[in-house]
Amino acid sequence: MSASLPSLPTPESAVDTDLPAPAADGSDAPTTAELLDFVRRTAEDTALVASLPLDPEGRTWLRLDGPGGSEAWLISWPPGTGTGWHDHAESTGAFTVAAGALKEYSLAARLPTDGWRTLELSEGVDRSRLLATGQGRAFGRHHVHEVLNESGREHAVSVHAYYPPLPQIRRYSRTGAVLRLEQTERPEDWQ
Ligand SMILES: [Fe+2]
Repeated sequence: MSASLPSLPTPESAVDTDLPAPAADGSDAPTTAELLDFVRRTAEDTALVASLPLDPEGRTWLRLDGPGGSEAWLISWPPGTGTGWHDHAESTGAFTVAAGALKEYSLAARLPTDGWRTLELSEGVDRSRLLATGQGRAFGRHHVHEVLNESGREHAVSVHAYYPPLPQIRRYSRTGAVLRLEQTERPEDWQ
């Protein structure tokens, strides 16, 4: 059953920040700054980036060993492909564009974790940024975004790292200001 919740309060209770967040847990956990450093250095590994097969029909990916037990991926994006709206639950993360460009649309708002199916977003919570080759960002827990290759002709390649390794992804559809939780995926769904 769907239930509309009140609009989200203050847009600036934001998770969308350029500042590295503290480690998600424990002192041994990699910080978002370390995740961002890893994805930047990996994106500069031209031999690795070139080793990823490109498929015009869909995204391709290669699992990497991230720092400090993090989960990392090298991903290719054909023109016009994207992730759809999703979050990464309790995981922090970072990604950098290694080739082409990616557009990120994100919400500068924290969503309630459970107990809702549809949510009307407040005005002013939308953010977007175009990340060119060599550009990246880090994000904190509960970051909600979609990432797209809006190019009409050029593949994009990017490097991503998450810590802790993704426990779940919640996927959303969006119509105007209304966000709807469509499904929750767990690692066993990705095997
Ligand atoms: Fe994501």
